[in-house]
Amino acid sequence: GMESCTCIAPVNIAVIKYWGKRDEQLILPVNSSISLQAKTTVAVSSRFKEDRIWLNGKEESVHNKRIQNVLAEIRRRATRHHVEGADGDIRQPCVHICSENNFPTAAGLASSAAGYACLVYTLAQLYGVSGELSGIARQGSGSACRSMYGGFVLWEMGQSTDGIDSLARQLAPANHWPSLRILTLVVSDQKKQVGSTEGMQTTVATSELMKKRVEVVPQHTEDMIKAIQQRDFPTFARITMQESNQFHAVCLDTYPPVFYLTDTSRLIIQMVHTYNTFHNHTRVAYTFDAGPNACLYLLEEDVPYIVALVNQFFPPPPNTQQAFVRGINVAPASLDKDLLECFKIPRSEGEIKYIIHTKVGSGPQLIEAE
Ligand code: DP6
Repeated sequence: GMESCTCIAPVNIAVIKYWGKRDEQLILPVNSSISLQAKTTVAVSSRFKEDRIWLNGKEESVHNKRIQNVLAEIRRRATRHHVEGADGDIRQPCVHICSENNFPTAAGLASSAAGYACLVYTLAQLYGVSGELSGIARQGSGSACRSMYGGFVLWEMGQSTDGIDSLARQLAPANHWPSLRILTLVVSDQKKQVGSTEGMQTTVATSELMKKRVEVVPQHTEDMIKAIQQRDFPTFARITMQESNQFHAVCLDTYPPVFYLTDTSRLIIQMVHTYNTFHNHTRVAYTFDAGPNACLYLLEEDVPYIVALVNQFFPPPPNTQQAFVRGINVAPASLDKDLLECFKIPRSEGEIKYIIHTKVGSGPQLIEAE
């Protein structure tokens, strides 16, 4: 049998936001959400006498409730590696988990979602669990269930109190919209912020605006599904930005308020709207999760101009060693003088550390097994 394996799972960036639970234990959301998958994270698992976990090389406690729930669920469904004890009890071997991230951790970039998705996928390979896995990933972290699929993914909120129908499914594969690009602008000053779990709890408990949001998200979701199916960029972009803004408005309406956007985030928002207004057409969308980093969705042809604009208004910090743009190469572009004159934002040197340039990616994959 398989002794150890390495898998990768994608980071997902929501265009319809998940914020608020109706069940804390099972992690059931108050609304459906939609995401697009980007970069990947890696986990390695092997079989040992005691469960242990390392995150980016540092050992962490395995006695975390969510990790325990995931392990228990996988072992319940295991078809492989059963060990029969002297007492006739069926036991399963333990695992050593080494999880590594190549996307900035805890920067509000959904890297914990990729981590849990990767953990569930890897354990499923090892213990021989097949079939629906997003329901298990959901019990690690809500948004992780969307990282169990590639491309464009819907997490259906479900109606059942036991969570049986609160699952993710693919709306369209990664190659459905080949010209779509994702630029992640990694903002320099990553101050400590309120975690998603705690933040959304306080929002549900205190925000009046959240009641309104729960009423309107189903329409956003329906319109978003249509926009994705029809590759209608302006509609896709508008809903993405409105969703991001409503999510952050709900955070501000939380008591005490939760702030994820910074001055830099707001300048990026202004930059995008100025660019769109100049072109008389919605060509770029921003979205922000529980942190100041921006994810921009745009079409391939606009990438060089947007990168040039970021360079113009948020030039790389002095003595930048690594390339400002990581990932797919970007051709240089010169900016129109008339365009530049429209921007009323200051030059903020070093505010954006670097840019990650990616496409919509695939779901979890097994990359090595022994
Ligand atoms: C802002 O999935 O991290 O990224 O279920 O408590 O683990 P828990 O929360 P988490 O929340 C993600 C919130 C978000 C929006 C989204 O990804 O949809």
